[in-house]
Amino acid sequence: MIAVIAAGNGGIGQAFIERMLASKPDTIIHASYHHSIPTQTLLDNPRISWTKADLTSESDIKMWLGGIESLDWLVNCAGMLHNADKGPEKTIREFDADFFYHNIQVNCLPTLLLAKHATAIYRRQKSEASVKIFATVSAKVGSIEDNRLGGWYSYRASKSALNMSLKNLSIEWQRQLPNVCVASLHPGTTDTQLSKPFQKNVAANALFSSNYTADKLIDIIGSLSAEQTGRFWSWDGSELPW
Ligand SMILES: NC(=O)c1ccc[n+]([C@@H]2O[C@H](COP(=O)([O-])OP(=O)(O)OC[C@H]3O[C@@H](n4cnc5c(N)ncnc54)[C@H](OP(=O)(O)O)[C@@H]3O)[C@@H](O)[C@H]2O)c1
Repeated sequence: MIAVIAAGNGGIGQAFIERMLASKPDTIIHASYHHSIPTQTLLDNPRISWTKADLTSESDIKMWLGGIESLDWLVNCAGMLHNADKGPEKTIREFDADFFYHNIQVNCLPTLLLAKHATAIYRRQKSEASVKIFATVSAKVGSIEDNRLGGWYSYRASKSALNMSLKNLSIEWQRQLPNVCVASLHPGTTDTQLSKPFQKNVAANALFSSNYTADKLIDIIGSLSAEQTGRFWSWDGSELPW
């Protein structure tokens, strides 16, 4: 099994790699990292090849995926909720165009670029019987139907745009690449630097370790068939409304 993990240096991304290595001994991994450097243990692991890539840069993605011959799973773990200057908006009065663009850029754009440049890889494997995965870690707050609380304009909108991109892609690929399953994944609230400022009001049993989340996401992905393309999955395997 060949897994391509985008943003393998993040909280969920790194756990995803570690749990894949532990639970699937035949797996080899192509992983990208961005600013923060992966642990020395992961850098030294002969089953992982690391590439530094800004996933908002088409040339970085083209270069990275251009060097990959075949794959079974591609999972994008990149994302942002807050940056050094700003966090998610409680009210529209806090809305800021630059913060909005940053959310769209990190939470939505990479998936479209990855899909564009992974197409050639999936096309080479079109006649293989096994299901191929194209998945992105999204967020339940991107569900329009599920939105009852409001707030978090930029993050919610960027994850809704991501979900629409994945749904769109599933429709196009269903015809052209029928063995590919496109999936949007909600990880549940997970203890990473992304959720740190928002963990106060989360019940202890509702805050998952990144290893727990990774195991759940690996289970979901491993259970998917090509016919289940274009759906939005929660960490527990239930389906979420778009
Ligand atoms: N944690 C949660 O509770 C939670 C809940 C719902 C959804 N999610 C989603 O889960 C995904 C993973 O989040 P996480 O919790 O693992 O957060 P995290 O630890 O902050 O990881 C985010 C990752 O995105 C990478 N990234 C950001 N900008 C990038 C860029 N331009 N190019 C390449 N990589 C970039 C970061 O790399 P650098 O740091 O090196 O830039 C890091 O690897 C996100 O999409 C998030 O929205 C998380």
